[in-house]
Amino acid sequence: MTGIMREIETRRAKRALDTKPIGEDAVGRIMEAATLAPSCFNNQPWRFVLVHGTDHLEKIHGFLPGANYWVKKAPLLICVVVKKEDDCVLSDGRDYAFFDAGLAVMNLVLQATSEGLIAHPIAGYKPVEIKAALGIPSEYTLLTLVALGYPGDEGHLNEKHLELEHSTRDRKPMEEVVFKNGWKKG
Ligand SMILES: Cc1cc2nc3c(=O)[nH]c(=O)nc-3n(C[C@H](O)[C@H](O)[C@H](O)COP(=O)(O)O)c2cc1C
Repeated sequence: MTGIMREIETRRAKRALDTKPIGEDAVGRIMEAATLAPSCFNNQPWRFVLVHGTDHLEKIHGFLPGANYWVKKAPLLICVVVKKEDDCVLSDGRDYAFFDAGLAVMNLVLQATSEGLIAHPIAGYKPVEIKAALGIPSEYTLLTLVALGYPGDEGHLNEKHLELEHSTRDRKPMEEVVFKNGWKKG
């Protein structure tokens, strides 16, 4: 396998996390990878609030829906925060803050994967409540939480998640998403 295909292929949105803390060095490399992402005019709109330690994590746990019960095992939650106006806002809905934050998150996720970690972004949480708990100003968007942890025991996963943990990748066929020299052309 060449290039970074190993990390790209190994990465999965797994849910069986271990509570074992993640070392500071690894966290430093992961965050450096995130901040090395490109951004429109080098605006670097991303902000990350790292939440770790039982007391701090528990403040967030109350704002997760039941389906994201597995996130409670993560020893580190990375809250990704952006404000649309901190980056290029162009015509036709091109609000690049969200795009650029996504680039940063992918860097973060791939570096975490290469460190032997699971890095699983989620959209299922109560943003208003979490922003208040962390003191994030209301004009910012809490775009995602990334649950980070080493692979752990699967015993606490529900049946559906246990099945997904060992599932093959589910992707649309290439011809449905990749066109050549024109819209929907093969
Ligand atoms: C923005 C975003 C939000 C997601 N939200 C959740 C979530 O709330 N709960 C969850 O269990 N998985 C969540 N996922 C994981 C996706 O379901 C998963 O990435 C997708 O099914 C593809 O599987 P794979 O990442 O293993 O290839 C989210 C992923 C992304 C990128």
